[in-house]
Amino acid sequence: MSDTRAFPEGFLFGAATAAYQIEGAAFEDGRTASIWDAFSRVPDAVINADNGDVACDHYHRYADDVQLMKQLGLQTYRFSTSWSRVRPDGGPLNAKGVDFYKRLVDELLDAGILPWLTLYHWDLPQALQEKGGWTVRETSDRFTEYALDMHDALGDRVDVWTTLNEPWCSSFLSYTAGIHAPGHYSQAEGMLAAHHLLLGHGQTVRELRSRDASLNLGLTLNLTVADAVDPADPADLDAARRIDGQFNRWFLDPIFRGSYPADIIRDFRDTDAEAVARWQEAVQPGDLEVISTPIDSLGVNYYHGELVGGTPPEVDPPGGDAPTVRPIGVPFPAHEKLYWHDRGLPRTNMGWEVQPEGLTRLLERVSGEYVAEAGVALYVTENGAAYDDEMVDDDGEKRVHDVDRVEFVEAHLGAVLDAVDRGVDVRGYFYWSLMDNFEWAWGYAKRFGIVYVDYPTQERVLKDSGRQYARIIAERALAA
Ligand code: NOJ
Repeated sequence: MSDTRAFPEGFLFGAATAAYQIEGAAFEDGRTASIWDAFSRVPDAVINADNGDVACDHYHRYADDVQLMKQLGLQTYRFSTSWSRVRPDGGPLNAKGVDFYKRLVDELLDAGILPWLTLYHWDLPQALQEKGGWTVRETSDRFTEYALDMHDALGDRVDVWTTLNEPWCSSFLSYTAGIHAPGHYSQAEGMLAAHHLLLGHGQTVRELRSRDASLNLGLTLNLTVADAVDPADPADLDAARRIDGQFNRWFLDPIFRGSYPADIIRDFRDTDAEAVARWQEAVQPGDLEVISTPIDSLGVNYYHGELVGGTPPEVDPPGGDAPTVRPIGVPFPAHEKLYWHDRGLPRTNMGWEVQPEGLTRLLERVSGEYVAEAGVALYVTENGAAYDDEMVDDDGEKRVHDVDRVEFVEAHLGAVLDAVDRGVDVRGYFYWSLMDNFEWAWGYAKRFGIVYVDYPTQERVLKDSGRQYARIIAERALAA
């Protein structure tokens, strides 16, 4: 076995999805609209005017999908529950909606797969948005009520509970940049949303913990590694600081240290002083203690690195983070006083650079500065790539030869092992995504799956990357 690199004992291999991206059945069995049902109907909000009405029809095909997971050898499956399915309009419990998740979880348990449940993967009930959404404090309370309902229903069979997925996206990208639902353009709203999301997280962890001390509780953040074009140039370094502050520290600091980063508050004041004043009024005494309630697990979602500078590049990088047909709100603090540069790395179909080594550094940094000291377990809860996949007929067998994704997965799992070699206690890895699905503002135009979904027929075809991932899981090792 000397020519292989083994994963540590107990390391979990999984794949991830989210309710709105795969379930479909958008108005069945009592489910009502979420902000994504509403937003996807706004002209030009989503490429090709796609929406999640049918998606992968997972609501009806969940049993077959679990069999696919079993075939892949997944040890765990990270999915989210749809708030507007289980509490339509954010109101009382809908038994039919809850039953779906009971059936799904039972199916997973029967297949020997650990259910990893996320409570909020961006699909707020539209009725709550009409009352202010995440910009109002009440939404944090509604979220905790919903979480407790889910625990009432599933607490006997689900041990791992993630409160939020990528709160940066459900706050700043949604309420400030206007790219995700509800598509607003306000710095104040983004800041308020981030705070209320974190508050909802903290109070939910407190409540769940007091009910059952044995639960594994945590949240998932989209963290990034921003390198300065010239580390000796103060303007370039400052660009990297801004990215790190707004994506990473704005969330890690309140959770692990009970405070917001002062330098980023200053930057936010520069772009919109009134927004900061409104936000300061909203942050009430005691909130940060709630937000920093100890957690058990931190999930890191990592997709790409970034090279940034304080001056524009001669040639714009290909693709970059440019979103969809909708313009980004201006000023958008995450884009102020910085420019993306290109270092010639390969890029995925999203225009994101492929930089596996960034994942190693990110895990080391997060572990060293936040997680290890707090005794919190670290997981990669998402990592993956979109490529232009094509289904082909190989002598009567449908196949997808996604060579780039095979390499991407191997390289990133290698990067996880590099972090382990450097002493980081990484406990697991989830590929995003189990199957192609509704990629938010990109609709169905981007395919991230290790399983291909032929949308007209809903047929699932295991891609070469899926076959490769299954082999890695079975061997619990990478070829060296
Ligand atoms: C992160 C999100 O959690 C997920 O919903 C999304 O599809 C992937 N990134 C890919 O962009």
